[in-house]
Amino acid sequence: TLHNNMAQEKLTVKDIVSLKNKRKITMLTAYDYPLASLIDKAGIDIILVGDSLANVVLGLDSTTKVGMAEMLHHAKAVTRAVSHALVVGDMPYESYQVNPEEAVKNARRFIDEALCDCIKLEWFEQCLEVTKKIIHAGIPVMGHIGLTPQTADKLGGFKVQGKDSEAAGKLIAQALALEQLGCFAVVLECVPDKIAEIITQKLKIPTIGIGAGSACDGQVLVTYDMLGLFERFTPKFVKKYINLTPLILKAVDEYKNEVIQKKFPSQEHSFSIKAEELEKLKIER
Ligand code: KIV
Repeated sequence: TLHNNMAQEKLTVKDIVSLKNKRKITMLTAYDYPLASLIDKAGIDIILVGDSLANVVLGLDSTTKVGMAEMLHHAKAVTRAVSHALVVGDMPYESYQVNPEEAVKNARRFIDEALCDCIKLEWFEQCLEVTKKIIHAGIPVMGHIGLTPQTADKLGGFKVQGKDSEAAGKLIAQALALEQLGCFAVVLECVPDKIAEIITQKLKIPTIGIGAGSACDGQVLVTYDMLGLFERFTPKFVKKYINLTPLILKAVDEYKNEVIQKKFPSQEHSFSIKAEELEKLKIER
């Protein structure tokens, strides 16, 4: 069955599209080898090397503060770990807005240098031309509409988008335009659930929601949010499946105390030398 094959083989963009109306699509972010390995092992369909890297890993206050160098560095670590999931490279701010040629060049770096399977870019005014050129260059594109953090200032901050009929109509038109250009999926971020449902019904390609209700074809969360490893703020749409922060604090505290109290390392974690060799050393000296 589709499901069983998918458990072993590397997923393609086509596999993801074919999941629409069959089962929900699962997506999480990753930025490094260990977490990407675990997420892949758990059988998540899509791993996004998101520019949320800026906030959750690099301690920056905006996703606009990471560039191609940082994104490629982390994307390489992720693709080294993944054998099953589709890996999406997130185009950082100003890597695709300057001009379409530059956008294609940068998109290609995610594929050729970091070995990602495809890229994602956030909606902006001229994004249709850019998206078209990248798709024509043979690189699959995942769209991203609704709350687009790179241009959140222009949207009135980090707020739910499409709350009145005019704004909702625009979102529907954007989603349809991206599908028409050949995007293989669209992320809907912070959109009323009913609007996400309408978009999901209108599109033949899958919608992946984050703060967009349960009707979407798939769901994405920032992994550090759902593991309780990002404490600065927690958006309403985040569900913490585990809170690792107190567990890590407890482990680090225990280590600290054991070192100070000379309980660590014990014999179990030390290396020995044969008594006769030690004796010889004493005689020779
Ligand atoms: O950068 C990111 O993590 C994202 C997801 C929230 C969709 O764009």
